[in-house]
Amino acid sequence: MSAIASRRVPVRLEPPYDIVVGPDVLRDAAALIGDRRRVAVVSQAAIADRYAETLANVLPTSEIFLIDDGEDAKNLATVESLARRFARWGLLRDDAVVALGGGVVGDVAGFTAASYHRGVDVLQAPTTLLAMVDAAIGGKTGVNLAEGKNLVGAFHQPIGVLADTTTLATLSEREYRSGLGEVAKYALMDDVVADPSGIVDLLRLHGGAVLERDPGVLADLVTRCATIKADVVASDPMEHTGIRATLNYGHTLAHALETAGAYSLTHGEAVGIGLIFASRLAEALKRIGDDAVDRHRAIVAALGLPIEVPGGVGLDADTLVRLMQRDKKARGGLTFVLAGPNGLERVDDPPASAVERALAAVGVGS
Ligand SMILES: NC(=O)c1ccc[n+]([C@@H]2O[C@H](COP(=O)([O-])OP(=O)(O)OC[C@H]3O[C@@H](n4cnc5c(N)ncnc54)[C@H](O)[C@@H]3O)[C@@H](O)[C@H]2O)c1
Repeated sequence: MSAIASRRVPVRLEPPYDIVVGPDVLRDAAALIGDRRRVAVVSQAAIADRYAETLANVLPTSEIFLIDDGEDAKNLATVESLARRFARWGLLRDDAVVALGGGVVGDVAGFTAASYHRGVDVLQAPTTLLAMVDAAIGGKTGVNLAEGKNLVGAFHQPIGVLADTTTLATLSEREYRSGLGEVAKYALMDDVVADPSGIVDLLRLHGGAVLERDPGVLADLVTRCATIKADVVASDPMEHTGIRATLNYGHTLAHALETAGAYSLTHGEAVGIGLIFASRLAEALKRIGDDAVDRHRAIVAALGLPIEVPGGVGLDADTLVRLMQRDKKARGGLTFVLAGPNGLERVDDPPASAVERALAAVGVGS
């Protein structure tokens, strides 16, 4: 057993569930599965090779169901194939599905569980940093169509989330950095001066250990980030009030950079740059001062993420603005989530000159 105790983050929904975080918590799966008869563990080959045995040891009636790797596999064909394999194996409505993997596995297994037999229970067992702090929490599941990402899906809250921080040791550097961008977002979503989540302080004291993936420090970091996500989800479970839009802090430019795609930034790198852009835009609109901009830059840099778009001089600001107008928050014009005296808020259609200045500040077109 690991010497580092696991932590529990409650998600206060009806019914409530816990996010269990720590080294080796996959071994606790049986307690969450309870007396459910059969357990279909959905995963990808590279993850199952490393971690499925731990689950098999504690879930004797489980069977592993592999799906292909990558965003391309997040589609209805994979859902159909999984559901048919479940049916042939005899999975019934009172049984359970475990999603062992990153956000792709979580979304596909979660959506299949939401629709198979009109809904079977799912336990999320995220193995990427991004899934631990974001994708596995909150019940959003879904797959892509050729026409767009996440266009078919359902809200299906898990019965629990098991975030085993030991699994992060085998994640590629690129995927790890994808999660670090979300960590920067959580650090900056709250009041960074008062630091109520303690994330800023943790990064200041243990930044090196985070980059070295120390499982104990990561358990602390994931717990703090997951707490913020759990609280936002509990206050707006079905995304009706708009508060969940705060989780998109830094993502408007990030998505545009990812779509423009020319510099193969990871999601986390794009989010880091998006956060700095958002702070510069808020500053141009006199919503925040220099000190807050400096803190944004310091947090992103402390996580080893770039603070400017590499090669951004060759990028066209107009293209990025057009891409940002397609953001799901936008209502025809440009919409951002920006910091200000009342915390994070939606800001519609800021002056073009302020947007251009903020883009130039992250190295775009200048
Ligand atoms: N449902 C939500 O609320 C939500 C939120 C954010 C993102 N998402 C979705 O999540 C997806 C991205 O998730 P992701 O970043 O976790 O990517 P991913 O699921 O594609 O995983 C990244 C890669 O890492 C591998 N991997 C996973 N865990 C590993 C481990 N411990 N060791 C070694 N390799 C491992 C995977 O096999 C994959 O090749 C996107 O499809 C996105 O739309 C969903």
